[in-house]
Amino acid sequence: MESPFKPDALKGRVALITGGGSGIGFEISSQFGKHGASIAIMGRRKQVLDAAVSALRSLGIQAIGLEGDVRKHEDARRVVESTFKHFGRIDILVNSAAGNFLAAAEDLSPNGFRTVLDIDAVGTFTMCSEALKYLKKGGPGREDSSSGGSILNISATLHYTASWYQIHVSAAKAAVDATTRNLALEWGTDYEIRVNGIAPGPIEGTPGMSKLGPEEIESKARDYMPLYKLGEKWDIAMAAIYLSCDSGKYVNGSTMVVDSGLWLSKPRH
Ligand code: HXC
Repeated sequence: MESPFKPDALKGRVALITGGGSGIGFEISSQFGKHGASIAIMGRRKQVLDAAVSALRSLGIQAIGLEGDVRKHEDARRVVESTFKHFGRIDILVNSAAGNFLAAAEDLSPNGFRTVLDIDAVGTFTMCSEALKYLKKGGPGREDSSSGGSILNISATLHYTASWYQIHVSAAKAAVDATTRNLALEWGTDYEIRVNGIAPGPIEGTPGMSKLGPEEIESKARDYMPLYKLGEKWDIAMAAIYLSCDSGKYVNGSTMVVDSGLWLSKPRH
């Protein structure tokens, strides 16, 4: 579908996108690129990164791939530094890297719980910490900008209520949302950095959907969830553009739910 945003909405901006080689992260990478941004994508798998960078470049987008695991502090630091060295500035950090699997709480080991917290929650904070100096108003590369950069954290709606077999992800995304609000307060006030989130509903063609049992969702969920509708990666990318370009300049500390109202759903009487 055609974008309602102007093609230069993100012109001249540099975006670093963790998990940007696949799924929702890749769609954000390509839509940001199509709207004028230069893109650095971070991921653990070289082949995935290489394929994603080729696809972006074939669209005429300036893109680089940087291998790294958000759980490793030294990787986070190196990737942020390399992005700055390559493009000379960093305007937008998107924390899209995430880990997930279905596990009943009684079967989940503490290490399984910790692993997802490490990727989603600690990884997000680590990337934000490393990017801070470049995102600050007046920071390196931002001398010509009248404000700081922005951060976008990809979250979920699982933890608004409770979700079967998702205790680890629910806890991790609750921490991500708290991180969004607290950084919005501190860094918004001190550095004019806007920090927001997006909580996607079920999005077709994503690793999240394939890992979380699409057959069950397809067959049963539609009956008891009146608002059930699959979203497209495009829907999330458009929200990401809105929050990251000038249209979102007064939005800070908000996690936008993009799920067609699903989390509000109740069985029909
Ligand atoms: C129970 C499991 C498990 C499973 C792993 N563990 N898979 N426990 N059921 N299916 C446990 C392991 O037993 C281990 O604990 C611990 O978790 C770490 O497992 P590793 O395999 O060593 O971890 P690692 O290789 O680092 O892989 C991390 C991962 C993996 C999260 C487990 O799936 C991954 O890398 N995922 C990244 C891609 C991904 O998941 N994308 C989907 C994002 S979708 P023990 O105690 O045995 O040592 C998404 C959507 C959220 O986030 C919202 C949806 C609505």
